[in-house]
Amino acid sequence: MNGDLQKILFDEQEIKNEIGRAAAWLDERFNGKNPVAVCVLKGAAMFFCDLVRAVKTDVQLDFITVSSYGSSTESSGKINILSDLSADVKGRDVILVEDIVDSGNTLFALQNLFLKRGAKSFTSVTLLDKPSRRKTDVCADYSCFEIGDEFIVGYGLDYAQKYRNLPYIAVLKREIYT
Ligand code: PRP
Repeated sequence: MNGDLQKILFDEQEIKNEIGRAAAWLDERFNGKNPVAVCVLKGAAMFFCDLVRAVKTDVQLDFITVSSYGSSTESSGKINILSDLSADVKGRDVILVEDIVDSGNTLFALQNLFLKRGAKSFTSVTLLDKPSRRKTDVCADYSCFEIGDEFIVGYGLDYAQKYRNLPYIAVLKREIYT
């Protein structure tokens, strides 16, 4: 294990099992439909790739890059769209795929954005949910893991752009980010 880490929270097998459940949930909900699955870069990249390969539903893939944190561990409350979708979501079923819902600002902003653009429906799936940090009254429609107020990295999640490529989700040692 990387020496900056306190402990592994969810290993590769646990993540895989939960992705299988999330994919089954999506397949049941979108049976016979052709939704647009939107990956929120960069954090959701690993989860997105594994999730869309686990679903049987015929999904269109698209990507949006937003930022809220910079290199700090606290949400700024502001959402910046750094790169936008290529698809027109008007009249489409949108599945938003997030790595984590923390303050809820990003999910809230993206839900409003896609509905304003005329999406027929909006469904959100997150790998991790941190309800104790919520500042906005939103929650994902499907969440794989609920976690406490720990600073976690790996499987797409970073601290100052590091640790994203770890294949598991781990708690970062406090001295690394304080
Ligand atoms: C993280 C994460 C979510 C968002 C969640 O993105 O990927 O998109 O923050 O936080 P919130 O609920 O407080 O809005 P970040 O802006 O750190 O960019 P990244 O995905 O490139 O790591």
